[in-house]
Order: sequence, then structure tokens, then C-alpha cells
Amino acid sequence: MKALIASGGRGTRLRPITHTQNKHLIPIANKPILYYAIEAAVDAGIKEIGIVYNAESREVPDYVGDGSKWGVRISYIPQEKPGGLAQVVQLAEKFVAKDKFIFYLGDNMLIGGIKRFTEEFEKSGCNCYLTLAKVKDPERFGVPEFRGGKIVRIEEKPKQPKSNYAVAGIYLYDHHIFEAVSSLKPSARGELEISDAHTLLIERGLKVGFTEITGWWKDTGKPTDLLEANRLILDNIEVRNDGDIDKYSDVAGRVVIEEGAKIVNSKIRGPVIIGKNCIIENSYIGPFTSIGDRTEVRNSEVEYSIILRDCKITSVGIRIEGSILGNDVEVVEAVGKPQVHRFMIGDQSRIEVA
Ligand code: DAU
Repeated sequence: MKALIASGGRGTRLRPITHTQNKHLIPIANKPILYYAIEAAVDAGIKEIGIVYNAESREVPDYVGDGSKWGVRISYIPQEKPGGLAQVVQLAEKFVAKDKFIFYLGDNMLIGGIKRFTEEFEKSGCNCYLTLAKVKDPERFGVPEFRGGKIVRIEEKPKQPKSNYAVAGIYLYDHHIFEAVSSLKPSARGELEISDAHTLLIERGLKVGFTEITGWWKDTGKPTDLLEANRLILDNIEVRNDGDIDKYSDVAGRVVIEEGAKIVNSKIRGPVIIGKNCIIENSYIGPFTSIGDRTEVRNSEVEYSIILRDCKITSVGIRIEGSILGNDVEVVEAVGKPQVHRFMIGDQSRIEVA
């Protein structure tokens, strides 16, 4: 079995972070989102992974590399424009060749891995095996319609969903999917929809099975999804301290402190991860916070947030909470009179001031 991972698209719902960084490389608990998909495939024993990337930038291939750090082979397949997930599958036909494969959307995160799905798919004799998750907002997803315990249709982002399930971005296929994706027409939003390909397989009488994801699964499409994913991953980290905590500091709970990080006269309440060479001084870092490498936090409080690398947070009077800071961001005290807010903010940013 091979794995195909989608890492293209534009990440518009995660702007401004995605103006300068590919959405799939945004770190969750200090590890790029895409690595969770790669590692899930590796843990399931898959040795050959194909990654479809947006041809406008080689950021993903350059960052992720050839797979040798996981002992697998990663090939890259460029996509000229984000023409839909069924197009991603079309582009991968040569890479997949005669094998069965798992198609994993690179922005999906899942706890518990994918081994169960690959094993069930192999045993089931299905041509296509879908993973479903119960959700509160099915209109955001591909939604299955059931009759007599079987899926009869999948609708993409329906206004009136026929069930409260989402088809998660983890699909298993045999070669029949290639015939289906090659007979599709673009949808009203101009994409070749993977949901239409699934419906076509059903209409053609092919065997489309499904399983329910009972654990935690997340499509990290929106900023609040990133914070929630960060919370859940941090909840499962193992305590480790490779940094330096001074005697005036108080560190409790699940906390990872990476090499070279210094905690000075500060209180850390896990789950928290603090990246390499960070400095946390006279500060409080509260639960569910990830702090990227070389970031400095001084005289400030941060909780339930994702702070990327090389940021500076200094003497911020009110606790920073529910926030995502990109790379090299500075949030510092305005000195001098009159007391003012002074902003230098890129396109599509959002600031809430108290
Ligand atoms: O997360 C599950 C949902 O994913 C499914 O329920 C939907 O049926 C499916 O269409 C998809 O919906 P999204 O609106 O979440 O898809 P999105 O455009 O966000 O793309 C999903 C991933 O695939 C993301 O990592 C970007 C990548 N992608 C997307 C498109 C459209 C590509 O690599 N190329 C593309 O052309």
C-alpha cells in the first residue's frame, strides 16, 4: 500500500499566517501539521509516500525532504492550480501505479493513527473505504447520505446535510478511483470534487465501505481548529526538560522544554512546549501553549496559544490568550507618553485589544 498526501491548496482561511508560510508547515506542538500525516503513514508500515504540492512554491518539498529521516521514500507531484481533491488523485495515477493507497489530506489530524483503517480496508474487499466522523457542523464537509445502513451518496458542503457525519480526509482506494476521477466535471465552485467521485463509484456499483472515527479527528481549516488541535496534541506529550530552569521558577504538569531554552523566574503550567533556545523571563506560560524556537517572552503572560519561532513578547500588560502569532512577530510595550497602541500589521490580520 502507498500513501498519497495532499499539501496544495491556498490556505486562505488561515491568512495572514499563510501569506508567508504554507498551511501544512504551520506547527502544532512545535511540529508541522504535515508531519503528523507522514508519521501516521510511516507507523502504518507504508514505505512509499507521494505528496502533491502547489507548484507555485517548493516550500513543502524543500522543507520535508526525500523521506530518509523516516526511513521511507517521498516523491513529489506538483499541482499547477488547486483544482480540487479529485484532481489531486488524477495527478497521482502514475505514482500509485497498480497499488492500493491511502489518500490523506495533509491538513487533517487524527489521534490513534491509520493502521486500523489500512487493515480493515485490506480485509473488507472494498474498492473504496471512507472514514466518517460525527460533527456538529456537517455543512463544512462532504456528507454521506445513508439508506439501509449503506452510503448511497456523498454531498459536498450541503446546505441541508442528510446526516451529521463528515467524510474525514482519510480515504482508502483501489485503482477504480482513477476511472471515477477522470469522468468528473468541475462543481459549481470550479473544483473536481472528491465527494462526486465517491458518489460515482457507488452509482457504478462498486463496493464503498466505511468506518467511524471514534477518537479525535480534526480538519485544521480555521484558526480555532489549530488552537484546538494544539490543545489535544499537547495533552498527550511526555514530560521532558533539556533546557535550563532556574531556582526561582515553578514548572508543573506536562511540560517539554527543548535544548538551550532558559526559564528564569517564571511559572509554567503544562501542557506546554517551549522550543529550542527560547527565553522565558518573569512570565507565566499557561496550559495548551506551544512556543517556537528562539522566541522570547518577558514580563508577560501567555495561555492557550500558538507562538511561532523568533517572536518577542515583552511587558504585555494583559494575558495573551487564544492567540496565534506567526514567525518573527513582536508584541512589545509601547514606551513614552501619550500611552498608545502602535500597530504594524500585515494584510488580513486580526487584533483584539482590551
Ligand atoms: O477535511 C475533510 C474534508 O476535506 C471533506 O469532508 C471534504 O469532502 C473535502 O472536500 C475536503 O474539504 P475541505 O474544504 O476541507 O478541503 P480543502 O480545500 O481545505 O483541502 C483539503 C486539503 O487538500 C488541504 O490540505 C489542501 C489540499 N488541497 C486542496 C485542493 C482543493 C490540494 O492539495 N489541492 C487542491 O486542489
